[in-house]
Amino acid sequence: MSQPDRYAVIGNPIAHSKSPEIHARFAQQTGQNLVYERLLAPLDGFERTVRDFIAAGARGANVTVPFKLEAHALATELSVRAQAAGAVNTLRFSDDVIFGDNTDGVGLVTDIVRNAGVALHGKRVLLLGAGGAARGVMLPLLDEKPAELVIANRTVAKAAELAREFSPPHGRVHACGFGEPEGRFDVIINATSSAIAGDMPPLAPELFGPGTLAYEMMYGREATPFMRFAAQAGAATRDGLGMLVEQAAEAFLVWRGVRPDTAPVYAALRASL
Ligand code: ATR
Repeated sequence: MSQPDRYAVIGNPIAHSKSPEIHARFAQQTGQNLVYERLLAPLDGFERTVRDFIAAGARGANVTVPFKLEAHALATELSVRAQAAGAVNTLRFSDDVIFGDNTDGVGLVTDIVRNAGVALHGKRVLLLGAGGAARGVMLPLLDEKPAELVIANRTVAKAAELAREFSPPHGRVHACGFGEPEGRFDVIINATSSAIAGDMPPLAPELFGPGTLAYEMMYGREATPFMRFAAQAGAATRDGLGMLVEQAAEAFLVWRGVRPDTAPVYAALRASL
C-alpha cells in the first residue's frame, strides 16, 4: 500500500483535541488511507509549523484556538464561508495553493437541522455572543433564512458591528444587549465563552419555552449553566459535541471528497466523555 496522506490539527494547547480520534474513525469507516496527528504550534510559530508540515508532504490541516485568524491570513485562496467568517479552521494543501475554509458554521447548522431535527427557516433565532465563534456561524445561519436573527452580546457595540456587516443582503439581523430581547425564541445559541467561567449570559426565562432549542456551542460531560437555565425554563437543550463532529465531517469532505456517516462517531465520542 502507498504511504498514507498526512493531516493534523494545529493549535495551542492541543493535547485534549478530539479531532485525531474523529478523523481516524472517519478514515476507517470510508477506507481512506490517511494519518491524522496533533501538532502543537508555538504561540509565535503558527506559520512556521504549517510550512514545515507542508514541506513534509502534508495534504491538509485543521486549525484551532488561537490560530484561526492567522490561518485566514496565511491562506492563498479562501472559500466564501471562510471569507465571511474571517477565520479558517480547515486548510488544504495542493501544489502552491493553501486553500482556507471554515466548516464551523455548517457544522452547527447541520447539527441543529439534521441531527436535532429543528428547522431554522422562518424561525426566530437568538445568537448570544459576538466574538469569533459567533462570527464564524453567521453566514450558514443566515443561509437557512430565519425570519429573524437577533445577536445579543455583553458589549453591544460588537453585536452591532456584526449585524451591520451581515444584515442586507443576507437578511434581518438585530443587535442588542442580553436584557433586551423579547418574546419566545425558537432557537437560542450560546456562542459566548461564558461556560468556561462557569457563567452564563443574564437572560430572561421568558425567552425560552417548550418549543425552544437551547444550543450550547461548548460540550462536556455535564450541562453548562446556560443549558441548566434553559432546561429549567422548559427548553430542549443540546451541547456542541454534534457541531464538533459535523465540522470535522465537512473538513473530511473538503479533503477527501466523501462525507462520512457522523452518527456512529458521535455516539462513540459521547460514550467516551
Ligand atoms: P470566541 O472565539 O470564543 O468567540 P472571543 O472572540 O474572545 O472568543 O469572544 C468571546 C465572546 O464571549 C464575546 O462575545 C464575549 O463578550 P464581550 O464581547 O462582551 O467580551 C463573550 N463572553 C465571554 N465571557 C462572558 C461572560 N462571562 N458572560 C457573557 N458573555 C461572555
